[in-house]
Amino acid sequence: MSRSAHPAGPRHADVLPEGHYSAPPADLNALDPKVWARTVGRDEHGVLTVGGIDVKQLAEEFGTPAYILDEADFRARARAWRTAFGSDADVFYAGKAFLSRAVVRWLHEEGLNLDVCSGGELATALSAGMPADRIAFHGNNKSPAEIERAVRAGVGRIVLDSFQEIVRVAHIAQSLGKRQRVQIRITVGVEAHTHEFIATAHEDQKFGIPLAGGQAAEAVRRALQLDGLEVIGIHSHIGSQIFDMSGFEVAAHRVVGLLREIRDEHGIELPEIDLGGGLGIAYTSDDDPREPHEIAKALTEIVTRECEAARLSTPRISVEPGRAIVGPTAFTLYEVGTVKPLEGLRTYVSVDGGMSDNIRTALYDAEYSVALASRSSDAEPMLCRVVGKHCESGDIVVRDAFLPGDLAPGDLIAVPATGAYCRSMASNYNHVLRPPVVAVDGGGARVIVRRETEEDLLRLDVG
Ligand code: LLP
Repeated sequence: MSRSAHPAGPRHADVLPEGHYSAPPADLNALDPKVWARTVGRDEHGVLTVGGIDVKQLAEEFGTPAYILDEADFRARARAWRTAFGSDADVFYAGKAFLSRAVVRWLHEEGLNLDVCSGGELATALSAGMPADRIAFHGNNKSPAEIERAVRAGVGRIVLDSFQEIVRVAHIAQSLGKRQRVQIRITVGVEAHTHEFIATAHEDQKFGIPLAGGQAAEAVRRALQLDGLEVIGIHSHIGSQIFDMSGFEVAAHRVVGLLREIRDEHGIELPEIDLGGGLGIAYTSDDDPREPHEIAKALTEIVTRECEAARLSTPRISVEPGRAIVGPTAFTLYEVGTVKPLEGLRTYVSVDGGMSDNIRTALYDAEYSVALASRSSDAEPMLCRVVGKHCESGDIVVRDAFLPGDLAPGDLIAVPATGAYCRSMASNYNHVLRPPVVAVDGGGARVIVRRETEEDLLRLDVG
């Protein structure tokens, strides 16, 4: 590997430009366990390893860029959620964060349920053997064909998202001679402290039925009258990448308030409430996520307290974590291409992927961290921006980070916490091929989603 000399980028705090960073970390080779998958470390040569395999070997065998997923970590996190909520609650993994057949099998084995929100996710879940009664079907605009497929398959619940959908699902279920278990998704009017595009409980957005103005109560009233539906509960999802539990507290308070109204009006106690997903993870060392057992304790206490106050028996709780399970379990491995120092600004480090494998930085201004992976280095920290190979200046993977000043073309770098919403939101922009997902476990590595090929691209191009 040649290390071409290049003028180093700016290094001293007093000359650093504006950005989202603090001072360079004391040791650039250190790996903060908050942001890295559990089995990640460095070997005696300083090479990053995961599940006992070094990344140079992974790059050689599977190429770059690649998402490298720590299977043991995924299973441990899934189990931690399952155990934390115990047998009186259900954990539905949100497949939108990342779904593949291997993931479905792991979830099945670890005793979790699955939330899907499209025909494609449903097909993946069913084809990998997830029992239909452990699947929840979500979405604000499920097509009649998708609804029919879900009802026929016997999904455990469909989460109804609008007045029209209440009628649509009831009609389809009835015409198939079935009674579909449903929850009604409401918006509780909470402003979750997260990026605007991923907040979902305020009223001015497309999801759910507003609690305000008695609309949610009216939705329940209508659903209860329809033979095709069995109303099992109320659903609320307030947003994503949330650290502050107070939004969930307000949501639980308002959902229980609706359960009380339903009891008073109809004389029934709905048996379930779902508080959605949305728990945040650490993308950088500045983030402090909560552990599943703390979250379970907090949510269970809130619901129990609210139900006692309303003199209701406590309903069965369910939650839908996606990011909190898969997010921290994977990193993206890239090869460094061009390294371009801009004097007085920063050094642009171009990698062999970009916004096609991680759109989150461009879309949400998300922050990530990065580490030199193919070796350790004692070189001075250099302020960098990790960018992709796309024809777009917003093609940024890591906006501001420090990497060693001797970084050179051919080095491997790794961006942690890319397990959620990276492969699942990947695109073919510029006809760049989507990277594989490689699962590492017990000293072995295997592809669970293969790299896209030019044949894959051309197969769709039938003109
Ligand atoms: N349940 C429902 C109804 C949801 O809509 C979502 C996420 C989840 C559960 C899972 O949320 P999580 O635990 O993963 O935060 N693409 C965005 C996130 C969008 C989330 C959409 N719904 C991102 O990359 O941050």
